[in-house]
Amino acid sequence: MDFERAASVHPAPLIDPFGRAISYLRVSVTDRCDFRCVYCMAENMTFLPKAELLTLEELDRLCSAFIAKGVRKLRLTGGEPLVRRSIMTLVRSLSRHLADGALDELTITTNGSQLTKYADELAAHGVKRINVSLDTRDADKFRAITRWGDLGQVMAGIEAAQQAGLRVKINAVALRGVNEDEFPSLMEWAHGRGMDLTIIEVMPLGDVGEQRLDQYLPLSMVRARLAERYTLDDLDDRTGGPARYVRVRETGGRLGFITPLTHNFCESCNRVRLTCTGTLYMCLGQEDAADLRTPLRASEANDLVYAAIDEAISRKPKGHDFVIDRRHRRPALARHMSMTGG
Ligand SMILES: C[S@@+](CC[C@H](N)C(=O)[O-])C[C@H]1O[C@@H](n2cnc3c(N)ncnc32)[C@H](O)[C@@H]1O
Ligand code: SF4
Repeated sequence: MDFERAASVHPAPLIDPFGRAISYLRVSVTDRCDFRCVYCMAENMTFLPKAELLTLEELDRLCSAFIAKGVRKLRLTGGEPLVRRSIMTLVRSLSRHLADGALDELTITTNGSQLTKYADELAAHGVKRINVSLDTRDADKFRAITRWGDLGQVMAGIEAAQQAGLRVKINAVALRGVNEDEFPSLMEWAHGRGMDLTIIEVMPLGDVGEQRLDQYLPLSMVRARLAERYTLDDLDDRTGGPARYVRVRETGGRLGFITPLTHNFCESCNRVRLTCTGTLYMCLGQEDAADLRTPLRASEANDLVYAAIDEAISRKPKGHDFVIDRRHRRPALARHMSMTGG
């Protein structure tokens, strides 16, 4: 076997210039969504022409290339991943990597609107846990935040996921003056049903037609208010990402805080993000990206793709520099969260 052929069978693992092993790939399988959350999208979004998208087979090939290079955890996200047509075909085909032990975890982040339809199939394909985004349990507020969403449908979806045996984590974005008083009840509801809750600080991604300063609520304030009512014991659980966890003594449940605006997690960053057009972002908070679609389509063998992935990882930056303050009223990055999936 010649050297090149051998390299394509056992490609070198992914280590970035700062010695971080890249073991986690997040894949945005579509930029479309059935909701229009105020912090994520403008109401009149222009989506990518369908011809720009990777096919499900191409997404599978790219994901499999990353798995061959040492990725152990894969998260499908979006836009709303469950509105992509035939998405279960991709989930089913990726599940072969779970079966043969190459992948530790296949998971999904969803707004929950399609879970009554898909929860059983996700579980059948080896998905063990999912993240469901839910910022409020008040139907009117839910409609105001998501613009197009229906709370009852999402609640039924969460129920269906739990019935199917999926572990559910709830993600809630903290929005000033909107859901800031609701965290105790949201947490008690989630923990009472065996679900973790993670609160996310709003990030300056994409022009959504609203002032970020109006939305921004620092999680230090959310945490301080919760600490007045509950005992929060720090946990050591690290995910390589920006989440920090506490155990809430009164509920016994786990509560996470995602503060992407602080830099304290970049040194352990283990992840990269692939968009539905085959663009790889090495950092959520930087513009630099690599085109993997061209090498993917240039050849049926994976050598070009592996080389492009290596080149991209060699450019993974040390960290990001998000800022929301009065001098930076424009989004720090022009792209929306629905492109990279958060
Ligand atoms: C972009 S969505 C994609 C998956 C799915 N549609 C959902 O909502 O879970 C992933 C996560 O990003 C969060 N998100 C979107 N825009 C955000 C922003 N500007 N700042 C912080 N989180 C954001 C959402 O609340 C959601 O939890
Ligand atoms: S946060 Fe998720 S559900 Fe809301 S608009 Fe963005 S992609 Fe859609």
